[in-house]
Amino acid sequence: MADLKLTKVEKAYGDVRVLRDIDLTIEKGELIVFVGPSGCGKSTLLRMIAGLERITGGTLEIDGRVVNDVPPAQRGIAMVFQSYALYPHMTVRQNMEFALKIAGQSRGEIAKAVENAARILQLTPYLDRLPRALSGGQRQRVAIGRAIVRDPQVYLFDEPLSNLDAALRVATRIEIAQLKEKMPDRTMIYVTHDQVEAMTLASRIVVLEGGGISQVGTPLELYTRPRNAFVAQFIGSPSMNLLPGEIVETGAETLVHLDSGGTARVAMPTGPEDRGLLVSLGVRPEDLVETEGPALYEGEVEITEALGEVTLLYFVPRDGEGQVVAKLPGIRSELRHRTVRLGADPARLHLFHEGQSLLYRGHEILPAPEAV
Ligand SMILES: Nc1ncnc2c1ncn2[C@@H]1O[C@H](COP(=O)(O)OP(=O)(O)OP(=O)(O)O)[C@@H](O)[C@H]1O
Ligand SMILES: [Mg+2]
Repeated sequence: MADLKLTKVEKAYGDVRVLRDIDLTIEKGELIVFVGPSGCGKSTLLRMIAGLERITGGTLEIDGRVVNDVPPAQRGIAMVFQSYALYPHMTVRQNMEFALKIAGQSRGEIAKAVENAARILQLTPYLDRLPRALSGGQRQRVAIGRAIVRDPQVYLFDEPLSNLDAALRVATRIEIAQLKEKMPDRTMIYVTHDQVEAMTLASRIVVLEGGGISQVGTPLELYTRPRNAFVAQFIGSPSMNLLPGEIVETGAETLVHLDSGGTARVAMPTGPEDRGLLVSLGVRPEDLVETEGPALYEGEVEITEALGEVTLLYFVPRDGEGQVVAKLPGIRSELRHRTVRLGADPARLHLFHEGQSLLYRGHEILPAPEAV
């Protein structure tokens, strides 16, 4: 049974529709991640699921029951916010107990729930401390603990780690992954701006754009088979390069002549009617490799950024339009101001026409390339 089902969900503030046509089915036990540019409606959607925001169109079902008008406390949902807002004068234990006391649970039940949550989150030694005597990561764990004690069916997280420093984010991200493993039948929806969080935590990612869903899929589906140029550039860092060009040969493979001069062989079938089609060739920075053979792209390296395990090379194309970025293994700072010839595996290239991937045109769907 589907745990959560959104059908044609819409949100309008007066005349302004900020979300429209949201169709999404979430199975029990999934960890769904919402990503998308700032202002695209991620928090609004989460708040509508929680019941904190009125749904102005469509239906939301939980376990087969329409809950549009069910108050938040009766939805079996708990939400963890970015600003964890603990009560400063209450201990960790009191912070976690609070909602249960309000709900009138017995002392015994409350103590059991708090001890269980503290154990899961490794907070037992801190139960009698005040929040100010905790690190940022520990405070965020208390905020998650406040959700766990209520034993909800669905957890909603709105950028819960964005106030933490880089090292703590990584540690807490891994804790959330472990938390999910301890609760395999609980559903989680997680909003983040962080690529790595999205790719590593999600069973499926929902990419939101301009108030609608752009694509839903597993992290690797979105990475290897983006439905459109928006998803292609949103997933992956640095973003996928898009090089304008024209299809010059069709068949089992497709040959694209690029405006920047090079030619690309793409392992994707096209029909004779596609000859002359104007396309964007998509190539991820990490899929570009140095080559002696025919170049997909050739140019002078403007800037190098050596990150240790990889070096980013930045090129400015001949026509000056858009930057091209390549990611080569190792430290390659010597390539600055040199001319470099780059190629790519034909199976790892993408083609877009008017922003839509040719891969998704009806019968021509190919299996995703092997994950590296
Ligand atoms: N009360 C309101 N009245 C009118 N518009 C609103 C209201 N609340 C939010 N919005 C608009 O709804 C849109 C979605 O906001 P939301 O907070 O859901 O975005 P978000 O994707 O969570 O962004 P961020 O990544 O910055 O957190 C925004 O364009 C915002 O301006
Ligand atoms: Mg938000």
